[in-house]
Amino acid sequence: MKNIQIATEIKVYKDRTELPDDIFNLLVEAEQAAQKAYAKYSNFKVGAAVLLNNGLTISGNNQENAVYPTGLCAERTTVFYASSQYPEVPILKIAITAINAQKPLTIPVPPCGSCRQVLLEYEQKFNQPIEVIMAGESGEVYVVASVSELLPCTFHGGFLK
Ligand code: THU
Repeated sequence: MKNIQIATEIKVYKDRTELPDDIFNLLVEAEQAAQKAYAKYSNFKVGAAVLLNNGLTISGNNQENAVYPTGLCAERTTVFYASSQYPEVPILKIAITAINAQKPLTIPVPPCGSCRQVLLEYEQKFNQPIEVIMAGESGEVYVVASVSELLPCTFHGGFLK
């Protein structure tokens, strides 16, 4: 028997003022997308913005439904749209943020497990790490260099060959 340990490295910026311009700009797009979320049941509005390898950015938000499980997270709305429009263009970065109508969000919003799995698919499809930027409405901003940092010990397409 042996133990293995898996470490995740997170860059922590003390707030938005510390961010490099490209990350700041992508986060602004995610914020604007969050404002347009359809989140009438949770009142938790999430926005995501991706930077593609062709320089384009695409943003999206969560879409809820009266049949709760049929709704979709902001991250998946965004990357599914990006992949449907630009199937051969790698995703380089994704910024995620949210607005909570109940109380101001002062901690970074990470992608849920299902979104991590979906993001990982595109990372592996292009063999290209996707940088993940996570922010609340204020406070610290987390940046990880790749989705696999957030989802180690993963199930991936290689198992199916
Ligand atoms: N949500 C996202 O859009 N992304 C996440 O990673 C976590 C949760 C949405 C789903 C639902 O519309 C609302 O936030 C509350 O869970």
